[in-house]
Amino acid sequence: MKMVVCGGCAASWRRCVVMSLRLLFLLPAGLPVRSQGESQSDNKQMENITIRQGETLFLSCSQGDFVTHTAWLNRSSILYAGEDKWSVDPRVSLVTLNQDEFTIKIEDVDLTDEGLYICAVQTSSRPRTTSVHVIVQVPPKIVNLSKDLVVNEGSNVTLMCLANGKPEPAIVWRIISPSDESLSSDNEVLEIPFISRYRAGVYECTAANDIAVDTQTVELTVNFPPSIADGRDVGVTLGQRGVLLCEADAVPEADFEWYRDDRRIFNGFDGIEIENDGAVSKLTFFNVSEADYGNYSCVAVNKLGSANTSIVLYEIIEPTSSTLLQEMTSSNLEHTAFENNDFLEGPGAVQDGNSGTSTVFTPTCLLLIVLLHLLLKF
Ligand SMILES: *[C@@H]1O[C@H](CO)[C@@H](O)[C@H](O)[C@H]1NC(C)=O
Ligand SMILES: *[C@@H]1O[C@H](CO)[C@@H](O)[C@H](O)[C@H]1NC(C)=O
Ligand SMILES: *[C@@H]1O[C@H](CO)[C@@H](O)[C@H](O)[C@H]1NC(C)=O
Ligand SMILES: *[C@@H]1O[C@H](CO)[C@@H](O)[C@H](O)[C@H]1NC(C)=O
Ligand SMILES: *[C@@H]1O[C@H](CO)[C@@H](O)[C@H](O)[C@H]1NC(C)=O
Ligand SMILES: *[C@@H]1O[C@H](CO)[C@@H](O)[C@H](O)[C@H]1NC(C)=O
Ligand SMILES: *[C@@H]1O[C@H](CO)[C@@H](O)[C@H](O)[C@H]1NC(C)=O
Repeated sequence: MKMVVCGGCAASWRRCVVMSLRLLFLLPAGLPVRSQGESQSDNKQMENITIRQGETLFLSCSQGDFVTHTAWLNRSSILYAGEDKWSVDPRVSLVTLNQDEFTIKIEDVDLTDEGLYICAVQTSSRPRTTSVHVIVQVPPKIVNLSKDLVVNEGSNVTLMCLANGKPEPAIVWRIISPSDESLSSDNEVLEIPFISRYRAGVYECTAANDIAVDTQTVELTVNFPPSIADGRDVGVTLGQRGVLLCEADAVPEADFEWYRDDRRIFNGFDGIEIENDGAVSKLTFFNVSEADYGNYSCVAVNKLGSANTSIVLYEIIEPTSSTLLQEMTSSNLEHTAFENNDFLEGPGAVQDGNSGTSTVFTPTCLLLIVLLHLLLKF
């Protein structure tokens, strides 16, 4: 089916097509064949057709009177010769063939269809051709992307994103969570030397060309050893609830261990509960006894290391009634200051709410105490 008459004449398509047609339609060899450029109306170049991959391409050329033969060619292959389909490609079909026009269509256009198409028309006198360049565009598609990655802090990280598309897509890397404008790359490769824990997050690769955009994300996890917030000592009145808090930053999340001096404390010990919730471990004494006062340490461990801090549980002496009035004002102030501290420094170790009630006086309570004092004076 394919014509191979044009082995070495790529540079002169039109002459070639005319030659082909001669063979095809068995033109009398004596007929004058005008060479390219001799007459502009005989060999026309249409404007380039730009089409997206997957779409349907319509190729149309005008006919006119006295047409004896006509054909559409893809490079040197005849697609249609008049109503006869020469192409074996099922995507190619005839749309219109009449005195005015000769239109064929190619469905589901692909990159390989790109190139020169020629409409050849033989009139009773001479052949003429119309050629058109078909340019196929392909939306960008990311074809090779780094997998989600888990690395240790300090590693050199390389993320890669390769994309296809036509025109060639532009690639941009950036971190989207946490967002950080300073960390981006307009390159297929994003290199992050000595990665820190603050560079962990979701990275996005965008491949864009004139026609579309493709976007993919990669999650980067950065492991680091625990770092522990300095514990703050906790004062609790005898018989009250006491809570020691320990907070550690770590990836993967830390396991916590509690010690009283050198003795390990486990959850379920008499009157004690240990609760771990993510970055925070909470040691609760339901009813603080004399023996509970002392020096505790919290150790946070993950596979990369450990950190520790110590917290002292100390006794607050319950105020007696004679000292109440003096202490009242100052303890209220203290409490306010304490709360402010909490707010500023975050949860290092805070006094439990229950024990707080021993130092905070409700307005009604204050009124009673003042009245009591006044009565006693008489
Ligand atoms: C048409 O496409 C051809 C081949 O890609 C190119 O050489 C030519 O410059 C294009 N012409 C126009 C007008 O874009
Ligand atoms: C056009 O020719 C090229 C090269 O031979 C081929 O790959 C492509 O499938 C052809 N397209 C059509 C629609 O015939
Ligand atoms: C993706 O890129 C990597 C690195 O260049 C290469 O080893 C791998 O074979 C590529 N995978 C695919 C599917 O192209
Ligand atoms: C990371 O890269 C630096 C140079 O950029 C090199 O000196 C260092 O050894 C690399 N570290 C690792 C863990 O490969
Ligand atoms: C706390 O313990 C003491 C001594 O064991 C006991 O007398 C007291 O009733 C307990 N308080 C609570 C609220 O359980
Ligand atoms: C508590 O114990 C740790 C070590 O176990 C020690 O470094 C720290 O000084 C102690 N704190 C007090 C107040 O004794
Ligand atoms: C606590 O940390 C110090 C250094 O900060 C270290 O010398 C010590 O061995 C640690 N203690 C425990 C029980 O891990």
